[in-house]
Amino acid sequence: MRELISAERIQQRVDELAAEINDDFAGIDLLLMIIILRGGSFFGTDLAKRLTMPVRLDYIRVTSYAGTESTGVVSMVSDVKTDIRNRPVLVVDDIVDTGFTMQWILRFLELKHPGLVRVAALLDKPSRREFDVHIDYLGFTIPNVFVAGYGLDGLDDTMANIPRVVALEEADEMHVSVPPRRARLPILPGVKS
Ligand code: IMP
Ligand code: MG
Repeated sequence: MRELISAERIQQRVDELAAEINDDFAGIDLLLMIIILRGGSFFGTDLAKRLTMPVRLDYIRVTSYAGTESTGVVSMVSDVKTDIRNRPVLVVDDIVDTGFTMQWILRFLELKHPGLVRVAALLDKPSRREFDVHIDYLGFTIPNVFVAGYGLDGLDDTMANIPRVVALEEADEMHVSVPPRRARLPILPGVKS
Protein backbone atom coordinates (compact mmCIF):
# COMPACT_ATOMS: atom_id res chain seq x y z
CA MET A 1 0.00 0.00 0.00
CA ARG A 2 1.45 3.35 -0.96
CA GLU A 3 0.26 6.90 -0.47
CA LEU A 4 -1.13 8.40 -3.63
CA ILE A 5 -2.60 11.65 -2.25
CA SER A 6 -1.77 13.01 1.20
CA ALA A 7 -4.43 14.14 3.66
CA GLU A 8 -3.15 17.74 3.37
CA ARG A 9 -3.32 17.69 -0.40
CA ILE A 10 -6.89 16.40 -0.31
CA GLN A 11 -7.97 19.13 2.13
CA GLN A 12 -6.27 21.81 0.04
CA ARG A 13 -8.01 20.56 -3.10
CA VAL A 14 -11.39 20.43 -1.32
CA ASP A 15 -10.80 24.10 -0.39
CA GLU A 16 -10.24 24.94 -4.06
CA LEU A 17 -13.31 23.04 -5.27
CA ALA A 18 -15.48 24.64 -2.57
CA ALA A 19 -14.26 28.07 -3.71
CA GLU A 20 -15.28 27.23 -7.30
CA ILE A 21 -18.71 26.04 -6.19
CA ASN A 22 -19.22 29.10 -3.96
CA ASP A 23 -18.32 31.27 -6.92
CA ASP A 24 -20.51 29.44 -9.45
CA PHE A 25 -23.53 29.26 -7.16
CA ALA A 26 -23.05 32.68 -5.58
CA GLY A 27 -26.32 34.22 -4.41
CA ILE A 28 -28.53 31.13 -4.56
CA ASP A 29 -30.93 30.49 -1.72
CA LEU A 30 -30.50 26.75 -1.51
CA LEU A 31 -28.22 24.09 -2.94
CA LEU A 32 -29.28 20.47 -2.69
CA MET A 33 -26.22 18.32 -2.22
CA ILE A 34 -26.80 14.66 -2.96
CA ILE A 35 -24.01 12.48 -1.60
CA ILE A 36 -23.66 9.01 -3.04
CA LEU A 37 -23.13 6.49 -0.25
CA ARG A 38 -20.98 5.08 0.96
CA GLY A 39 -17.89 6.26 -0.88
CA GLY A 40 -18.88 9.91 -1.28
CA SER A 41 -19.43 10.52 2.43
CA PHE A 42 -16.05 11.98 3.44
CA PHE A 43 -15.66 14.15 0.35
CA GLY A 44 -19.28 15.34 0.45
CA THR A 45 -19.14 16.25 4.12
CA ASP A 46 -15.79 18.04 3.85
CA LEU A 47 -17.05 19.94 0.82
CA ALA A 48 -20.37 20.89 2.47
CA LYS A 49 -18.57 22.38 5.48
CA ARG A 50 -16.84 24.86 3.19
CA LEU A 51 -19.87 26.04 1.24
CA THR A 52 -21.22 29.45 2.08
CA MET A 53 -24.77 29.21 0.67
CA PRO A 54 -27.54 27.34 2.49
CA VAL A 55 -27.09 23.63 1.70
CA ARG A 56 -29.51 20.78 2.21
CA LEU A 57 -27.78 17.43 2.44
CA ASP A 58 -29.39 14.34 1.07
CA TYR A 59 -28.09 10.89 0.30
CA ILE A 60 -28.59 8.21 -2.27
CA ARG A 61 -27.37 4.67 -2.02
CA VAL A 62 -27.26 2.11 -4.79
CA THR A 63 -25.52 -1.17 -5.23
CA SER A 64 -24.09 -2.10 -8.56
CA TYR A 65 -22.93 -5.45 -9.74
CA ALA A 66 -20.57 -5.59 -12.65
CA GLY A 67 -22.26 -8.00 -14.97
CA THR A 68 -21.00 -8.97 -18.37
CA GLU A 69 -18.93 -6.56 -20.44
CA SER A 70 -20.40 -3.02 -20.41
CA THR A 71 -23.56 -4.09 -18.66
CA GLY A 72 -24.39 -3.97 -15.04
CA VAL A 73 -27.28 -4.11 -12.69
CA VAL A 74 -28.00 -1.30 -10.30
CA SER A 75 -30.45 -1.52 -7.48
CA MET A 76 -31.68 1.36 -5.41
CA VAL A 77 -31.03 0.86 -1.72
CA SER A 78 -32.06 4.31 -0.52
CA ASP A 79 -33.44 7.14 -2.62
CA VAL A 80 -33.21 10.86 -1.85
CA LYS A 81 -35.87 12.15 0.52
CA THR A 82 -35.97 15.72 -0.81
CA ASP A 83 -38.06 17.15 -3.63
CA ILE A 84 -35.48 18.20 -6.20
CA ARG A 85 -37.88 19.46 -8.87
CA ASN A 86 -36.58 22.71 -10.45
CA ARG A 87 -33.86 22.96 -7.83
CA PRO A 88 -30.10 23.19 -8.34
CA VAL A 89 -28.51 19.88 -7.39
CA LEU A 90 -24.88 18.93 -6.78
CA VAL A 91 -24.27 15.18 -6.95
CA VAL A 92 -21.14 14.10 -5.07
CA ASP A 93 -19.23 10.84 -5.30
CA ASP A 94 -15.81 9.52 -4.41
CA ILE A 95 -14.65 8.27 -7.78
CA VAL A 96 -15.80 7.92 -11.34
CA ASP A 97 -14.35 4.73 -12.74
CA THR A 98 -16.23 3.22 -15.71
CA GLY A 99 -18.86 5.93 -15.19
CA PHE A 100 -21.63 3.36 -15.03
CA THR A 101 -22.84 4.21 -11.51
CA MET A 102 -22.78 7.97 -12.00
CA GLN A 103 -24.50 7.78 -15.36
CA TRP A 104 -27.21 5.58 -13.91
CA ILE A 105 -27.77 7.90 -10.94
CA LEU A 106 -27.87 11.00 -13.14
CA ARG A 107 -30.51 9.40 -15.38
CA PHE A 108 -32.47 8.34 -12.34
CA LEU A 109 -32.39 11.86 -10.89
CA GLU A 110 -33.38 13.41 -14.24
CA LEU A 111 -36.74 11.65 -13.88
CA LYS A 112 -37.39 13.92 -10.90
CA HIS A 113 -36.87 17.03 -13.08
CA PRO A 114 -34.19 18.91 -11.14
CA GLY A 115 -33.55 22.49 -12.25
CA LEU A 116 -29.84 21.96 -12.79
CA VAL A 117 -27.46 19.12 -12.02
CA ARG A 118 -23.73 19.46 -11.46
CA VAL A 119 -21.34 16.65 -10.60
CA ALA A 120 -18.48 16.66 -8.11
CA ALA A 121 -16.07 13.75 -7.74
CA LEU A 122 -12.89 13.54 -5.74
CA LEU A 123 -11.21 11.13 -8.13
CA ASP A 124 -11.39 10.26 -11.79
CA LYS A 125 -9.89 7.25 -13.54
CA PRO A 126 -10.38 8.35 -17.17
CA SER A 127 -8.50 5.36 -18.56
CA ARG A 128 -11.34 3.14 -17.32
CA ARG A 129 -14.22 5.16 -18.72
CA GLU A 130 -16.93 3.29 -20.61
CA PHE A 131 -19.90 5.57 -19.98
CA ASP A 132 -19.75 9.25 -20.76
CA VAL A 133 -19.97 11.32 -17.58
CA HIS A 134 -19.09 14.98 -17.30
CA ILE A 135 -17.51 15.95 -13.96
CA ASP A 136 -17.91 19.66 -13.23
CA TYR A 137 -15.84 19.71 -10.04
CA LEU A 138 -13.03 17.17 -10.06
CA GLY A 139 -10.39 16.74 -7.37
CA PHE A 140 -7.73 14.57 -8.97
CA THR A 141 -7.13 12.45 -12.02
CA ILE A 142 -5.51 9.18 -10.99
CA PRO A 143 -3.98 6.23 -12.81
CA ASN A 144 -5.72 2.91 -13.24
CA VAL A 145 -5.00 1.46 -9.81
CA PHE A 146 -7.38 0.34 -7.11
CA VAL A 147 -7.43 2.95 -4.35
CA ALA A 148 -8.75 3.19 -0.80
CA GLY A 149 -9.00 5.71 2.03
CA TYR A 150 -10.88 8.98 2.55
CA GLY A 151 -14.23 7.22 2.42
CA LEU A 152 -13.29 4.64 -0.21
CA ASP A 153 -13.37 1.07 0.92
CA GLY A 154 -10.44 -1.18 0.34
CA LEU A 155 -10.82 -4.75 -0.76
CA ASP A 156 -11.84 -5.89 2.72
CA ASP A 157 -14.09 -2.89 3.47
CA THR A 158 -11.91 -1.70 6.34
CA MET A 159 -9.85 1.12 4.88
CA ALA A 160 -12.31 3.97 4.40
CA ASN A 161 -11.21 5.74 7.60
CA ILE A 162 -7.66 6.41 6.38
CA PRO A 163 -7.49 10.21 5.87
CA ARG A 164 -5.34 9.96 2.70
CA VAL A 165 -5.83 8.10 -0.56
CA VAL A 166 -3.66 5.02 -0.93
CA ALA A 167 -3.03 2.77 -3.90
CA LEU A 168 -3.46 -0.94 -3.29
CA GLU A 169 -1.56 -1.92 -6.40
CA GLU A 170 1.35 -0.67 -8.44
CA ALA A 171 1.25 0.55 -12.01
CA ASP A 172 3.98 1.72 -14.39
CA GLU A 173 2.60 5.17 -14.25
CA MET A 174 1.48 6.49 -10.83
CA HIS A 175 0.97 10.14 -11.69
CA VAL A 176 -1.78 12.13 -9.97
CA SER A 177 -2.86 15.37 -11.63
CA VAL A 178 -5.19 18.26 -10.91
CA PRO A 179 -7.34 19.53 -13.77
CA PRO A 180 -6.84 23.18 -14.74
CA ARG A 181 -9.34 25.63 -13.35
CA ARG A 182 -11.96 26.42 -15.94
CA ALA A 183 -14.08 29.49 -16.44
CA ARG A 184 -16.83 30.26 -13.99
CA LEU A 185 -19.91 28.06 -14.51
CA PRO A 186 -22.82 30.13 -13.28
CA ILE A 187 -26.27 28.68 -12.68
CA LEU A 188 -28.72 29.09 -15.50
CA PRO A 189 -31.34 31.79 -15.35
CA GLY A 190 -34.74 30.37 -14.54
CA VAL A 191 -33.51 27.77 -12.08
CA LYS A 192 -35.44 28.06 -8.90
CA SER A 193 -33.03 28.73 -6.10
P1 IMP B 1 -18.11 2.91 -11.82
O1 IMP B 1 -19.56 2.59 -11.82
O2 IMP B 1 -17.31 1.89 -12.58
O3 IMP B 1 -17.79 4.30 -12.28
O4 IMP B 1 -17.61 2.73 -10.34
C1 IMP B 1 -17.96 3.66 -9.43
C2 IMP B 1 -17.94 3.13 -8.03
O5 IMP B 1 -17.08 2.00 -7.82
C3 IMP B 1 -17.40 4.24 -7.16
O6 IMP B 1 -18.46 5.06 -6.70
C4 IMP B 1 -16.68 3.50 -6.07
O7 IMP B 1 -17.59 3.28 -5.01
C5 IMP B 1 -16.28 2.18 -6.68
N1 IMP B 1 -14.85 2.19 -7.08
C6 IMP B 1 -14.35 2.33 -8.32
N2 IMP B 1 -13.01 2.30 -8.32
C7 IMP B 1 -12.66 2.18 -7.01
C8 IMP B 1 -11.38 2.09 -6.35
O8 IMP B 1 -10.28 2.16 -6.94
N3 IMP B 1 -11.44 1.95 -4.99
C9 IMP B 1 -12.61 1.89 -4.30
N4 IMP B 1 -13.81 1.97 -4.88
C10 IMP B 1 -13.84 2.10 -6.23
MG1 MG C 1 -19.30 4.69 -4.83
